[in-house]
Amino acid sequence: MEHQIKFIPPGKTIKVRPGSSVLHAAREARVFIATRCGGNAGCLMCKVEVVQGRESALTPPSDAERYKLGPLLEQGIRLACQARICGSAEVKLPEDPLKAAIRKQLEKQSADDELW
Ligand code: FES
Repeated sequence: MEHQIKFIPPGKTIKVRPGSSVLHAAREARVFIATRCGGNAGCLMCKVEVVQGRESALTPPSDAERYKLGPLLEQGIRLACQARICGSAEVKLPEDPLKAAIRKQLEKQSADDELW
């Protein structure tokens, strides 16, 4: 039985086999998640937020994931390379750091313009 994983953004949904990692599902869906450690829970670049299915759609965190994420786990943050799919879920991807910096600069500029 396959499960559906939705990635937001971009809003793509893909069906995957149970046991696939979230990172693998993202790659199957052609959704980019940055990595540097090759999926070994070493770089923390693949953090995602589980919006739906936090308790039921992913396997419990591994010891490595617990160690790396600590209290972030309670906020629904998981490592895409470690979390295995066992149900349907909706996963939110972090904003690209460059895009976030540009967005913040534009928001600041817009706020400054309103003052004049
Ligand atoms: S890919 Fe490096 S921690 Fe997941």
